[in-house]
Amino acid sequence: MNLYSSNARWKWFVLAASVFISIGSIYYTNILVNQLKEQEKQQIQLYAKTLEFTVNQNDASSENINFITQEILFQNNSIPIIITDEREKVIDYRNLKLKDQWPAVQKERYLINEIEVMKGTYEPIRISLKDNGEEFAVQYVYYKNSFLLAQLIAYPYIQLSVIAIFAFISYLAFNYSKEAEQNRLWVGLAKETAHQLGTPLSSLMAWVEVMREDPDLKNRNIAEELEKDIRKLTIVTERFSSIGSVPVLKQENVVTLINNVVNYLRPRLSSKVRIDVYTLSDNINAYVHAPLFEWVLENLCKNAVDAMSSSGNIAIKILRGSEGKVLIDISDTGKGIPRSKIAMVFNPGFTTKKRGWGLGLTLAKRIIEIYHKGKIFVKSSEENQGTTFRIILNASLGYSQPDNKA
Ligand SMILES: Nc1ncnc2c1ncn2[C@@H]1O[C@H](COP(=O)(O)OP(=O)(O)O)[C@@H](O)[C@H]1O
Ligand SMILES: [Mg+2]
Repeated sequence: MNLYSSNARWKWFVLAASVFISIGSIYYTNILVNQLKEQEKQQIQLYAKTLEFTVNQNDASSENINFITQEILFQNNSIPIIITDEREKVIDYRNLKLKDQWPAVQKERYLINEIEVMKGTYEPIRISLKDNGEEFAVQYVYYKNSFLLAQLIAYPYIQLSVIAIFAFISYLAFNYSKEAEQNRLWVGLAKETAHQLGTPLSSLMAWVEVMREDPDLKNRNIAEELEKDIRKLTIVTERFSSIGSVPVLKQENVVTLINNVVNYLRPRLSSKVRIDVYTLSDNINAYVHAPLFEWVLENLCKNAVDAMSSSGNIAIKILRGSEGKVLIDISDTGKGIPRSKIAMVFNPGFTTKKRGWGLGLTLAKRIIEIYHKGKIFVKSSEENQGTTFRIILNASLGYSQPDNKA
């Protein structure tokens, strides 16, 4: 099914496009920031020069020059600056968020703090005060980025985070509603199937009883065989009805359960397929719902047989894992799964078989991960060598059971 591969390609495309747009927008704002920074720096330098010039002007006659310098000095109304003497005593400041009604102590603390911030941003500009060409004092102009510039620097990051958070939330909401819809479909279909099978099954059972009591029935075997098939059908119905409700887990010996499934399957497989169970102990307990767990095993074994074109070995290993886990490895010597397909085998509808439905592994995953709170995954797979699926079950319950605990 290329539905999944094109879906995956789309995801990569969207991801690549968003990374590209993010980098692009950060890059572009960076250019703007640098231009504005350069402009502000020049403005401050001009300001400092003007200041120096005005202070050092001896001849106060030139009205015009005074006018121009005043214009430049008051033109700066966005860049925060502090002017100090050589011992960092504040002489003047401009464009700071300092309120006139603040108490002197607070003002002083604020200014000291601001000077530290400004020192960390730009080197202060030195102004030398001269008398007859001889320096008699020094002043410093400290400055930092204007509020506009500071905002512009932070802007793309804020914008991108807001977009990312929004995208993430919508993705979750979308996935959640998709999953809820799928769940309803599964559950509804399973319940409906079980329900529909139930009526003819109970009537079949009654017919078998009628048959048994018929003294004219010549072949007694027919009733026996019919009953066996009815029993199998009952199990199938039970599976469908349990997947449609919340199954209650019981502590069971998984070695026995697995041997039962294997003994059921063995006579039904081709004689060229070997199936063996390996375990160090005959008694390994885990919390399972037996009918559903058997269904999973049957599905995995059938897939293994399909992968081997009806000759090869299936090995089931049961191990006690650490931290109350039970590990079950199902290995085959079949054709393996190509590396690029491993991530897809659990997707509904994924199949490589002519007559496949691609639901076996989806069902297995649902049963193990949702109903058993366990894990199922492809542990390893080599092309033309074989595949190993691993199931992890819980030997103890780390969560509370839904009602009537067995
Ligand atoms: N043991 C295995 N070895 C190789 N491929 C496997 C094995 N188990 C599953 N697959 C691959 O995963 C696909 C999906 O399996 P499944 O969900 O059971 O659906 P179906 O059996 O109907 O195809 C199979 O078509 C096959 O390509
Ligand atoms: Mg299958």
